Amino acid sequence: MKLLKKGAEADVYLSSWNGKKAILKIRKEKTYRNSVLDKRIRKQRTIKESEIISQVKSFGISTPLIYFLDVSKCSILMQYIDGKLVRDMNEKAIQKSCFEIGKIVGVLHKNGIMHGDLTTSNFILTKKQLVLIDFGLASRTEKPDDHAIDLRLFKEILNSAHANILKKSWNNFLKGYSKSIGEKYCNKIIKLVAVIESRGRYATVV
Ligand SMILES: Nc1ncnc2c1ncn2[C@@H]1O[C@H](COP(=O)(O)OP(=O)(O)O)[C@@H](O)[C@H]1O
Ligand SMILES: [Mg+2]
Repeated sequence: MKLLKKGAEADVYLSSWNGKKAILKIRKEKTYRNSVLDKRIRKQRTIKESEIISQVKSFGISTPLIYFLDVSKCSILMQYIDGKLVRDMNEKAIQKSCFEIGKIVGVLHKNGIMHGDLTTSNFILTKKQLVLIDFGLASRTEKPDDHAIDLRLFKEILNSAHANILKKSWNNFLKGYSKSIGEKYCNKIIKLVAVIESRGRYATVV
């Protein structure tokens, strides 16, 4: 098995399932935590991640299929999505896809799900569509403040990784978000993003 990414929470491997390419995501032991507690936390997060990946499909969002969930090993075997990470696309294409990303995030929030790690490395563009991955930090929440945290993170990623196209990409994102969730809620969340930014720890972007 080839290691694709060593993360803080999990390691991601290229694997196979019934002759098809697959992704194996394994949550690693955290030795600084009590081992019984650590196992419980990793199990819970693994279950939650796989549940939310599947749940959001019913909202019309494309996510990898779950092939196998091994709770005792804290691992998820899922469909390999063949495409390109949005992060690695050219600037014009990233800017354009931000509208679609905004639409997807609006649908998530409308249905009470926060992604928790909205970066351009967590969207894969296939020949057909944008696929959202990495629900490791996702949670069920209707709180506008939580939704604003999702938006603020995405804006920060645009600022740090795609600074040249920040303005247009952010505007496209908001257009898509507003289209899914409605102008009124969108404006409310934009205000909350400004509040987060005004807390000082975060610099204002744009
Ligand atoms: N289902 C998948 N299909 C294709 N590539 C994937 C898939 N899941 C993860 N990857 C690749 O592995 C990387 C890390 O996986 P991810 O679930 O985002 O974990 P992390 O929490 O470490 O960010 C992704 O950015 C992507 O490049
Ligand atoms: Mg990720």
